[in-house]
Amino acid sequence: MIVLAIETSCDDTGISIIKAKGSKRLDFNNFEILSDLTSSQVDIHKEYGGVFPAVAKREHQKALIPLLTKSLKKAGLLKERKKEVDSKKLSKIKKNLEKNELLFGELREFLKKYDASEINRIAVTIGPGLEPCLYTGINLAKSLSFYWNIPIVGVNHIEGHILSSFLSPTSKISFPAIALIISGGNTQIILVEKIGKYKIIGETRDDAAGECLDKTARMLGLTYPGGPEIYKKAKECKTNKYNIVLPRPMKHEKNYDFSFSGLKTAVLYHSKKVKIDDDYVKEMSYGIESAVIDVLLSKTLKAVKEFKVKSLILGGGVSANKKLIKEFKKNSPVDIFIPKQSFSGDNASMIGLVSIYSPNIKKIIKPKSNLKIND
Ligand code: KG4
Repeated sequence: MIVLAIETSCDDTGISIIKAKGSKRLDFNNFEILSDLTSSQVDIHKEYGGVFPAVAKREHQKALIPLLTKSLKKAGLLKERKKEVDSKKLSKIKKNLEKNELLFGELREFLKKYDASEINRIAVTIGPGLEPCLYTGINLAKSLSFYWNIPIVGVNHIEGHILSSFLSPTSKISFPAIALIISGGNTQIILVEKIGKYKIIGETRDDAAGECLDKTARMLGLTYPGGPEIYKKAKECKTNKYNIVLPRPMKHEKNYDFSFSGLKTAVLYHSKKVKIDDDYVKEMSYGIESAVIDVLLSKTLKAVKEFKVKSLILGGGVSANKKLIKEFKKNSPVDIFIPKQSFSGDNASMIGLVSIYSPNIKKIIKPKSNLKIND
């Protein structure tokens, strides 16, 4: 089976093609990533200091078809169209994509020129994420499924992050496990009984960990996305002129929830009282990074111990942070699974992987009946 996976939940456009080989057991030898491409909108959103949904939707519309073409070519699956284009199907797609005009224009040219008859399934992220962005990917998936007459599978984005460590060679995982998913939109601690069986035991009550890094970085005059900027500045910190002490919200509460808005407010008040210079930015970055890691680590380790799990899984953009990785590796009493850096943030391969290995994917929507498109 060859899966075409589409991810457009936030500001990264991802297309991946995965070939599933053999059994349904998740094992690196059982699948092959034929192509994994992501087009980042970071430079566009830098101007706004965060993701602007309407702009992100427009950029997904522009990026999807060139990325699809490149991916199919890389996977060796792009074929020149021999038959005439099916104009009846095309006009139905046009009608349904009337709110995705940009996307339709690109898709029409693609369908006139190319075929990809070896793709047997389409997997697409259906949430959580920014709605206009999600629908752009879903609309493309539905149109291709209709035109190529192949089934479509909807995948949960968080489940994608949980499985992202397994996109590269790993040792065998033992369950149950605790997964900590930390991104710009989500911060959750999840009990993973086995692949496909999850229970959220804690989550943020306000900002996500990555969102806190992005917003505090902005207060310090750093660019978007703030997480990698804070990491760089914190690493360069050599002084302690400002004696910065930041709160660790909810660290000692008897639950697995988080709150990062208090930390953000503390940074805002502190930074208003001083003249921000380079040493201040470095010291404050160090303080923010340490506070975020401290709370994430202590709550996650508490869950690992109390639920007596055998493994710990990390995922989401913030899990690329090298200091966080070092601290988790040093302190975890159980085997730890961390995605390769290129798979820590949003990517389509994790969506494809879920569509192959998760028992949650029971409902495979058949083509033809499903060309009801939303915006
Ligand atoms: O998972 P992701 O790519 O997108 C979603 O939010 O769904 O995560 C993006 C988040 C941003 O907040 C970004 O600042 C953060 O991940 N991030 C990092 C690092 N790289 C990305 N945070 C800390 N250290 C990093 N190296």
